[in-house]
Amino acid sequence: MLLSGPITVSLATLASAHPGATVKRQVSQLRDSYDFVIVGGGTSGLTVADRLTEAFPNKTVLVVEYGDIEYGPGNFDPPPAVPASRWTVTSLPNPEVNNRTAGVAAGQVVGGSSVINGQFLDRGSRFDYDSWQELNGQGSGSTDINWNWENLFPYFKKSVTLTEPSAELAEEYGYTWDVSSYGDSTPVYATYPPFQWADQHIMWNAYKELGVQEPKECANGDKEGICWVPTTQHPVTALRSHSGLGHYAAVIDTRSNYDLLVKHQGVRVVYPHKPGEDSGAPIVEVRSLVDDVLFNVTANAEVIISAGAFHTPTVLMRSGIGPASVLESAGIPLVLDLPGVGSNFQDHTGPPVSWNLTKPGDFHPVRSAMQDPAFAADAAAGFNETPSRGPYTLALGNSAVYVSLPHLAPDNHETIIANIRAIAANDTLAASYLPPDHRTSAPMIAGYQAQLSALADLFANPQSPSLESPFAAGASAVAFQLHPLSRGTVRLDPADHLAQPILDARIATNPVDLDLHLAHVRFLRRAGATEALQRYGAVELRPGPGVGDADDEALRAFVRQSATLSFMHPCCTAAMMPEEKGGVVGPDLKVHGAGGRLRVVDMSVMPLVPGSHLMATAYAVGERAADLIIAEWSE
Ligand SMILES: Cc1cc2nc3c(=O)[nH]c(=O)nc-3n(C[C@H](O)[C@H](O)[C@H](O)COP(=O)(O)OP(=O)(O)OC[C@H]3O[C@@H](n4cnc5c(N)ncnc54)[C@H](O)[C@@H]3O)c2cc1C
Ligand SMILES: *[C@@H]1O[C@H](CO)[C@@H](O)[C@H](O)[C@H]1NC(C)=O
Ligand SMILES: *[C@@H]1O[C@H](CO)[C@@H](O)[C@H](O)[C@H]1NC(C)=O
Ligand SMILES: *[C@@H]1O[C@H](CO)[C@@H](O)[C@H](O)[C@H]1NC(C)=O
Ligand SMILES: *[C@@H]1O[C@H](CO)[C@@H](O)[C@H](O)[C@H]1NC(C)=O
Ligand SMILES: *[C@@H]1O[C@H](CO)[C@@H](O)[C@H](O)[C@H]1NC(C)=O
Repeated sequence: MLLSGPITVSLATLASAHPGATVKRQVSQLRDSYDFVIVGGGTSGLTVADRLTEAFPNKTVLVVEYGDIEYGPGNFDPPPAVPASRWTVTSLPNPEVNNRTAGVAAGQVVGGSSVINGQFLDRGSRFDYDSWQELNGQGSGSTDINWNWENLFPYFKKSVTLTEPSAELAEEYGYTWDVSSYGDSTPVYATYPPFQWADQHIMWNAYKELGVQEPKECANGDKEGICWVPTTQHPVTALRSHSGLGHYAAVIDTRSNYDLLVKHQGVRVVYPHKPGEDSGAPIVEVRSLVDDVLFNVTANAEVIISAGAFHTPTVLMRSGIGPASVLESAGIPLVLDLPGVGSNFQDHTGPPVSWNLTKPGDFHPVRSAMQDPAFAADAAAGFNETPSRGPYTLALGNSAVYVSLPHLAPDNHETIIANIRAIAANDTLAASYLPPDHRTSAPMIAGYQAQLSALADLFANPQSPSLESPFAAGASAVAFQLHPLSRGTVRLDPADHLAQPILDARIATNPVDLDLHLAHVRFLRRAGATEALQRYGAVELRPGPGVGDADDEALRAFVRQSATLSFMHPCCTAAMMPEEKGGVVGPDLKVHGAGGRLRVVDMSVMPLVPGSHLMATAYAVGERAADLIIAEWSE
């Protein structure tokens, strides 16, 4: 379907640069009020704005975005790529990982994190989403809205247009896919790059030798195996495709009801009356980042918070919705006591494993070729051709292995899972792993126990991956631990409510997380002994020969010192769980107790991080939420 309908439209959109003419920059350009006000114009937020303005030509939508419209170069675009603006949140020193700090980025730009991310478009496994439903199922009472895989899959499909690779390309690299897992109508584009490094197959073959399956497609809910993953890029130009382009630039010409206000911060949500059945139309207090002036915008229908996992909790807390003790210490009058706001923080972390190939193969090109000025110049020139070609089209890479705990640790997965179940069954023990101020909170403890039970089921399932290791070149691996048991917090800075929140990532505070890392590292190390690596004389560099495989303490020390502390997947800080389990929103994504006029739609709402990168899920959650909102406000 190369150069068919929707792709031509997108090329025109890109060519006309960015629709800066329609964007709003000050209060005087706004309407008196809006039907919907969305705080945060990111991956999920703009998906919702696009769908609401499409479905309701006579209702108005305002998106308030902190950042501005910027060109977001791809992660691997040729220099001089000026990166788009971003937030950088640095965690408190984390004692369990040698007091190191996690540095976590998020997009601060129209399109949010989809403008700065690695363009790797994988989905979680069906069991990840089924576990959301399980955690919501009992006691939620409010609706019968289902978030399991079966219900989400149509939204995953709809959210992206896949362009298939040519037959020659598929043959050359062995690309496999199933087009029925994707859509063809939304101008968010993904495809398979026209380039791979010549040594990409080394790790692929190693995992194959270790017995890992090679599914044809990993986006259909079944993803245990070695997978090709689509890249969010335009299929012809290889330029990054993102939410700002697909859900704003591509549609704004036909949507007079869609206003985007940039360089403004959503400060808080205020109700004319106490939130509840008769709270009245909510108001969003907005601050100009240009002149610091505050003003109010009324949402006649609803307010939707989509400010991402760091900033959605700050908007809620500034609105008086959050843990009473945190609000009290910040001097904010309590409106709704919801201890789950800013709690339940999760991210992906993990250490590297790598080898030196002492008998290098005769491969061309390999990544080090980029050090050759002539090769690099040709690569840059190729990226700017139409269609684009060469190494820069690859972004960060588009292959990964996903393995379940029973398959990667046949000898000790049962012990690890039994430990998790023992914690889940013991209130005292479960509470001891929570942040200090949650250790006496019955809802937070009950919610954590429910999560641990759901996680134990995921770990016991041989089709549910617990390890991901993406790869693109050479003999190296990185161990993403897909289902962390530890829980962190995101809290307002009491000294400055409008500034960055304080992140306490609390990595490895549940010690079973280290046991999982050890199992993952041991599995990846086994790749070193495969014929795929040994034929090139592989010698392990990391953890290295000094770290004995049977030596738990040495391996733990390696993980504490060398694990990457964030793979940039912050989430879960306004979790969709019942209020009596510490949840913040119900299955309808409405904030508990807020009277139905306030929803959260972004990566904050997941109770458990899925076993994947988050962008595909952020789009799907946006699509699903938009349908819920549309159903509610349709006459
Ligand atoms: C560096 C990096 C690499 C990544 N790589 C990948 C990858 O390769 N594949 C993948 O699947 N995922 C990746 N991710 C994760 C993924 O991109 C994000 O999880 C996802 O896009 C988050 O979507 P969101 O809608 O929750 O938030 P975002 O897309 O971050 O949107 C939140 C928006 O709200 C705005 N905002 C914040 N506070 C306010 C406020 N008070 N008022 C107004 N606006 C506000 C922000 O500026 C932002 O635009 C990566 C993330 C990063 C940062
Ligand atoms: C929507 O607006 C148009 C133009 O203002 C008007 O003609 C039409 O009747 C409206 N439709 C509804 C359902 O209100
Ligand atoms: C971490 O910092 C704390 C407080 O400064 C200190 O007591 C502790 O010994 C440090 N831990 C490590 C492993 O360095
Ligand atoms: C916004 O409205 C609230 C509630 O009426 C009010 O307390 C607040 O002062 C208003 N803010 C501005 C900037 O007008
Ligand atoms: C890798 O192996 C080569 C060939 O034996 C050797 O020259 C080189 O120093 C090794 N590199 C590292 C980092 O050990
Ligand atoms: C629960 O955990 C606590 C703290 O580790 C322990 O003292 C207690 O014996 C455990 N209870 C049961 C029933 O195992």
